[in-house]
Amino acid sequence: MRRMYNIEWLFCIEILLHFSISNCGKVPAIIVFGDSSVDSGNNNFIPTIAKSNFAPYGRDFPNGIATGRFSNGRIAPDFISEAFGLKPIIPAYLDPSYNISDFATGVCFASAGTGYDNDTAKVVDVIPLWKEVEFYKDYQKKLRANFGDMKANEIIKDSLYLISIGTNDFLENYYTHPERRLQHLTIQQYEDFLIGLAEKFLRELYDLGARKISLSGIPPMGCLPLERAINIWGHHSCIDHYNDVALEFNAKLGWLVTKLNKELNGFQLVDASAYDMVLQIVTNPSQFGALAPRKCTCENNLFLVMKVSHHMKELRLNNILLR
Ligand SMILES: *[C@@H]1O[C@H](CO)[C@@H](O)[C@H](O)[C@H]1NC(C)=O
Ligand SMILES: *[C@@H]1O[C@H](CO)[C@@H](O)[C@H](O)[C@H]1NC(C)=O
Repeated sequence: MRRMYNIEWLFCIEILLHFSISNCGKVPAIIVFGDSSVDSGNNNFIPTIAKSNFAPYGRDFPNGIATGRFSNGRIAPDFISEAFGLKPIIPAYLDPSYNISDFATGVCFASAGTGYDNDTAKVVDVIPLWKEVEFYKDYQKKLRANFGDMKANEIIKDSLYLISIGTNDFLENYYTHPERRLQHLTIQQYEDFLIGLAEKFLRELYDLGARKISLSGIPPMGCLPLERAINIWGHHSCIDHYNDVALEFNAKLGWLVTKLNKELNGFQLVDASAYDMVLQIVTNPSQFGALAPRKCTCENNLFLVMKVSHHMKELRLNNILLR
């Protein structure tokens, strides 16, 4: 578990360092796509078994409410939002108690249990990624209708997009459903298939106007609590093979990020899986002179990072039952 906390931590610090230091502009909203790692409750409003609106989820959330976050408290996007001076929780798009005025400063389209692959969402009947994008298009329409084209375009272009997805494609789908292994004979072929889908998704977001995006790869999924629990013969240690797949997949995602940043004008896609690099930035910032905060005339970014570090102690990710 300790390793998992660290990853969440670094994920946040990476994003803050990148987007607050290299792009001093203001971030009007945080816009979220992905799976249970970032879902703030959309699954409460669809018929699926992949829900978390009951105890012990939410135990440490304000008022102890189980909101549909797969966590005992707030989740990474909530902390990131607060650190950017926005609201402390990001509402789920399907939650009828919020309207477009609320969503204009932060919105979540994520759905626990989903993946890049359409078939992954079918395993537990959740929102497929293409449908998250449809919701996002609908959101853009509402922004334009309520705030006019100019303001809407500003929100779309300047917002920070957080994407965290992919684990379920391997664990819920590929390794659980043998028929997938007939379609994609090797795990490498399946990885490449997913990378193709990731590319299509990112290009679509770019075409829709998104520019600042943080893309998370997958965690060392052989160390997730459920995977360790079933590793009886390995004395409940991490399943190395799964971790190797995670590293391999993240490396391919990293190449995709490099390629798209080169190709798409004005795209600022950050690979938030580059844990080692992040670790170096955090432990030895002087190595990264080019990133020095003093070049920036806006808010004191180190302060931001410290603030988030503090919050991260509060963030005890409890992503156990379903990712
Ligand atoms: C959203 O709801 C708030 C009250 O909760 C209200 O003041 C605001 O006008 C609503 N916005 C829209 C666009 O309906
Ligand atoms: C996933 O489903 C959507 C909607 O039916 C479809 O447009 C898309 O092509 C599908 N993707 C793949 C890779 O089959």
